[in-house]
Amino acid sequence: MSSAKATSLPAFNHKHLLGIEGLTEAEITQILDLADQYVDQNRQTDKKKNLLNGLTQINLFYENSTRTLMSFELAGKRLGADVINMSTSSSSIKKGETLLDTASTLNAMHPDLLVVRHGSSGAVKLLSRKVDCAVLNAGDGKHEHPTQALLDALTIRRRKGRLARLTVAICGDVLHSRVARSNIHLLNIMGTRVRVIGPPTLLPAGVEKMGVEVYHDMIQGLKGCDIIMMLRLQTERMHGAYFPTISEYFSLYGLDAEKLSHAKEDALILHPGPMNRGVEIDAAVADDLAHSAIQEQVEMGVAVRMACLDLLTRSKRETS
Ligand code: NCD
Repeated sequence: MSSAKATSLPAFNHKHLLGIEGLTEAEITQILDLADQYVDQNRQTDKKKNLLNGLTQINLFYENSTRTLMSFELAGKRLGADVINMSTSSSSIKKGETLLDTASTLNAMHPDLLVVRHGSSGAVKLLSRKVDCAVLNAGDGKHEHPTQALLDALTIRRRKGRLARLTVAICGDVLHSRVARSNIHLLNIMGTRVRVIGPPTLLPAGVEKMGVEVYHDMIQGLKGCDIIMMLRLQTERMHGAYFPTISEYFSLYGLDAEKLSHAKEDALILHPGPMNRGVEIDAAVADDLAHSAIQEQVEMGVAVRMACLDLLTRSKRETS
């Protein structure tokens, strides 16, 4: 194998990246520090490294994705891996093959990295037990989306210089959001103060036990916030009515200039995308570059995913 050796690099003590829960402050800092280096590399004309030469990465997405799939693909390619995207709409999954049978099939092709998105919480962990390679969770149901929380953290750290002692408000449909769950874990580990703001129907029962302050009123909740993280209404995971109408939801919980004025003057707005303008966020606010870091999040996403692919293959590259 011709992959570059990484003998002198610090190891990462996890075979998979299934969630933020279980990572330490030092491990999160290690990922973010490495991602910072990849941000610089990605801004150069020559963006390619041969770190993962000879390694195969398969992206297996059972749910739709634009940013996450594209950036995992770009991340793998920029590091020199052979990257294959498996489309669930044109594969044997449509013929009724189970997740675990698909996992065994892919495993027989000796991939080194498997990036998986699935609609069921826990499905990615289950799959990780069936394969020999490193598995990265690209979002499992309502459970976790670790690389999203890491890219959010990188965006915040680069803009604000730190994570500790900032106040972050996570707003909207927290109940159905794996982004919210991963962010709550990460921000708690990093010593950030976390608030969740939303109607009672869209907050998980007992969410305060996750170490967050709970608000049902946007103006109260946004007071003094450094970071405002907006979430999409995940209607594909809703069974029943969680709010009266979209226009009522927007007037109470949609982020507009008036509500934004109650946060700190230099508050930063994040959104994982895809955005629904006029539902959870006003179009003018989303495009207001004085506050919105939404496009920067996309840039950080590629760098964070490169860092994760690098770290999860270090032990393998050392022994090859
Ligand atoms: C999020 C997801 O899929 O969980 N999107 C993303 O990964 N950028 C959030 C969402 O779909 O609303």
